[in-house]
Amino acid sequence: MTNEWCGWREATERALYGPDDGFYTRPGGPGPAGHFRTSVHVSGLYAGAVAALLRRVDTALGHPDELALVDVGAGRGELLTGVLAVLPGEVAGRLRPCAVERAARPRDLDPRIDWRGELPAPGSVTGLLFANEWLDNVPVDVVETDADGVPRRVLVRADGTERLGGPVDGADAEWLRRWWALPPAPDVIGGTATGALPPGLRAEIGRPRDEAWAQAVRTLRAGLAVAADYAHERGDRPPFGTLTGFRDGREVSPVPDGSCDITAHVALDACAGPSAERLTQREALRALGVDGRRPPLALAATDPSGYVRALGSAGSAAELTDPAGLGGFGWLLEPVGGACAGLLAAGGA
Ligand SMILES: C[S@@+](CC[C@H](N)C(=O)[O-])C[C@H]1O[C@@H](n2cnc3c(N)ncnc32)[C@H](O)[C@@H]1O
Repeated sequence: MTNEWCGWREATERALYGPDDGFYTRPGGPGPAGHFRTSVHVSGLYAGAVAALLRRVDTALGHPDELALVDVGAGRGELLTGVLAVLPGEVAGRLRPCAVERAARPRDLDPRIDWRGELPAPGSVTGLLFANEWLDNVPVDVVETDADGVPRRVLVRADGTERLGGPVDGADAEWLRRWWALPPAPDVIGGTATGALPPGLRAEIGRPRDEAWAQAVRTLRAGLAVAADYAHERGDRPPFGTLTGFRDGREVSPVPDGSCDITAHVALDACAGPSAERLTQREALRALGVDGRRPPLALAATDPSGYVRALGSAGSAAELTDPAGLGGFGWLLEPVGGACAGLLAAGGA
């Protein structure tokens, strides 16, 4: 890892995905589950919900001979493994499970799962493409306003030291203008608001994520693409950005030396295509039958072990749907080909 100055996008790319020493790609590394808990790791209920969504997609597509489930940013294949475990044999027999992941295939993975480092070819997939906490790991550049309120690219070294580089221009400036309006200072000079930007505001330029997502959606011939992630909206972008690090289960300063995850919330509204639907994870999981209600106490008398199981499941469901936590995640749904529109709408198939 060099200690040269570069933008956060380039630094993150090297730190997370460098061939020998990247945080995610380092041979023998523990994978995402060794450092943080995603919805997939919280409970099998999540894979169960994805399986339920896959079955809705299957029905909407008229039960094709080959039904794809593509997991983008598949970690160690936990979601695909969980879905395969709960699908009925008839559907599993037609399923083509595929992991798209920059890390190497784990040993002992179910041999039915195809493992590849790149997205499938455009228009080659019929089924469900699912990406949980993928886009927040697609590297982005960071900008910060200088003493005169001019947004400049933040440069960083592998030890995490930062300085400001040149002003943001071109397609990145255009993305900022359209999707991440930095809030002007409220100061007033001679009775007129100056509209100047205060120093120290920060933003992440989500353009690489918009492009990555559009490429993922384009792999579908027919079906549904879903991205689930930490998200924010144009009207409530955080004024100082969200770039951060995770290591061994703890949030840490983002240092791009391969020792920690580097992540930033996703502007899912900017990624969304024209026919996209957006829900919170809480709404999506509830539509798929996951809810955190406790089992009736009467069950404890008639079926004590069933009651304990149901209680555990309700606890996991509550964690997955907590509006202040994972339930507050955004789900971006992109139906391709019409048949899979509205699958999570109230009363959806
Ligand atoms: C936060 S982890 C999420 C893992 C899993 N989806 C889960 O929810 O537990 C993000 C994963 O995305 C992978 N990843 C990031 N960019 C990728 C890309 N362009 N293609 C394939 N995998 C990618 C990383 O290697 C990492 O394993």
